[in-house]
Amino acid sequence: MPRPQIRLDYGKAMADTIGSKHGVTKKQLDEQLTRLPKAIDRLREDPKRRLKEDAYRYLPDDREAVREIKQLVDRIKNRCEIFVVIGIGGSALGSIALQTALRPFMHNLLDDKQRTGPRIFVLDNIDPVQFDSFLAWLGRKRLKKAVFNVISRGGQTAETISRFLIILRRLGQKACKEQVVVTTNSSPDNTLYKIADNEGLEYLKIPDYLVGRFSVLSTVGLFGAAMCGGDEDIDELLKGASDMNERVRIDTNSLLKDTSDMSKRLDVLCKNPAAIIAAVNYCLYNMGKNISVMMPYSYALKDLADWYRQLWAESLGKARDLADREVWVGPTPIRSLGATDQHSQLQLYLEGQNDKLFTFLKVDNFGKDCVIDPAPKCAPEFDFLNHKTLGTLLNNEKVATEYTLLQDNRPCLTIIFPEVSAYTVGQFVYLYEVATSLTGALFGINPYDQPAVELVKEATFALMDKPGRKYEVLADKIRSKTDIDVKFLV
Ligand code: PA5
Repeated sequence: MPRPQIRLDYGKAMADTIGSKHGVTKKQLDEQLTRLPKAIDRLREDPKRRLKEDAYRYLPDDREAVREIKQLVDRIKNRCEIFVVIGIGGSALGSIALQTALRPFMHNLLDDKQRTGPRIFVLDNIDPVQFDSFLAWLGRKRLKKAVFNVISRGGQTAETISRFLIILRRLGQKACKEQVVVTTNSSPDNTLYKIADNEGLEYLKIPDYLVGRFSVLSTVGLFGAAMCGGDEDIDELLKGASDMNERVRIDTNSLLKDTSDMSKRLDVLCKNPAAIIAAVNYCLYNMGKNISVMMPYSYALKDLADWYRQLWAESLGKARDLADREVWVGPTPIRSLGATDQHSQLQLYLEGQNDKLFTFLKVDNFGKDCVIDPAPKCAPEFDFLNHKTLGTLLNNEKVATEYTLLQDNRPCLTIIFPEVSAYTVGQFVYLYEVATSLTGALFGINPYDQPAVELVKEATFALMDKPGRKYEVLADKIRSKTDIDVKFLV
C-alpha cells in the first residue's frame, strides 16, 4: 500500500493565480529551476567546502548511528523518568520540534503507564530564573531519576557548557556516568568531548561536518525521539527522509545526465518539491518579498516552524557570496500559528506591505478530532457549528486566511500533510533541509556556515574573561561600543 506523502501546492504563488506583479511567472520559475544544477555544482566545488557540509544528506543511511542509539536507549530508558536535553540553537530546536510533533500535547503530565517514555524537558536557554526553577523542581529525589542529554556539536558553547558544569557537580562523579549522555563530535579541539572521554560519560557522536541546524535526523534529534517515543520513531523518521530523498535529488551526474534536452530537464525539476520551494522563494525575494512566514494549522507542527526559522535564517542570511563579494542577502523567516495568530499577526499580514511569502502547513487527517456540541436553545446563531469538528473548523480557517491573502494577491504556498506521523515529519525535515541548500545555491552563498553566530560566541568568551590577548582586546572593543553613555540615558 502506498505510504502517505506530503505534497506542495505552489499554484497560489504563481502569476497565473495572483498576477505577475506579486506572483512568479512560469518563465521566471523555469529560469531558476534550470540554474539549479549548475548552482549546486558551484556550491559543491567551492574549495573551502568540497561537499563536506552536505553531511546531512547521508543521515537517512547512517545505520551505525541508529544501532548505537537503540542500544543506548535499551540500556537507560527503564531507569529514566525525566529526560532533559541541554543544548541551544541547532542542538535543541530539532529535539523540541520532534517532541511537539510526535508526543501528545499532555505527554509530560500523563501517568507513567500512559506515556511512551520519560517526561521530557528541552532547556535551550541560560535564563537563571528558569534554570533555577527547574533545578528546584528536580530537587534530590527527581534528580536521581533524570537523564541529561548534553548536546553541542562544537563542544565549546558557553550556554550549554555552563549548565552542563552545574549538572555535573550536582550529580557527582559516579552518577554522571549513569545519568549524562554527551552528544558531540570528536574533533581534537572539542572540550566537551574531552570531558566525556575523561569522565567516562555515555557518548553519542555527531558526524563530522554536520552543522547544528541540519542535524535533527542525527544522534542529536533521534536519541530523544527514541527515549520518549520508541525505536520505530527513528526508523519512521529516517524512512520518511529517505523516501523524500528520492523525490528531491538533483544529481547532475546521474539523474539529469541523460536529459540534455532542457524541456525534459524541466519536467524532472518541476516534480521536485525542494527545487520548487527554492525557486519560488528566490524569485519572490527578488520581487521584494523578503519576509517568509511559515504558518502551521496544527499545534503538532508548531515547533517545526520554529526549527525552520533557524534553518532559514542562519543558512541564508549571509554578507558574502561564494566568490567573497559583499551581497548582504537573506529572507527573514517568521513563525506564526494558525488559528492563534489570526488574532495577533493577521491584520498586518493582510493590510501591511505586500512583502511576504506565506507557507501554510496543513493536515488532512488529524487522527483525533473533537465534535462540537449543540448550542443551548437560546443561541440558534451557533447551530451552524453543530456536529462539525474542530479539525474542520481549523482547516476552514486556513482556507479563509489564504483566500483573504489571495484577494490582495499575496503569494502563498501550502505543504499538505496527509497525517502527522514520524514518517511525514521525516519527509518534511528532509524536504526543507534540501530546499535550504538549493535556495543557498541560488543565492550563491554558503548555507552551511554561520560566521555571525561564531562572532557572538567569541564576544561572549571575551566578556566572560576567557584568558588570551585576543579576548582582552575584544572585550575592550566591545565595552567601548556598548557601555551606556549617560548623556542618552533618561
Ligand atoms: O546551526 C548551528 O550550527 C548553530 O545554531 C549551533 O547549533 C548553535 O550555535 C549551537 O552550537 P553547538 O551545537 O556547537 O553548541
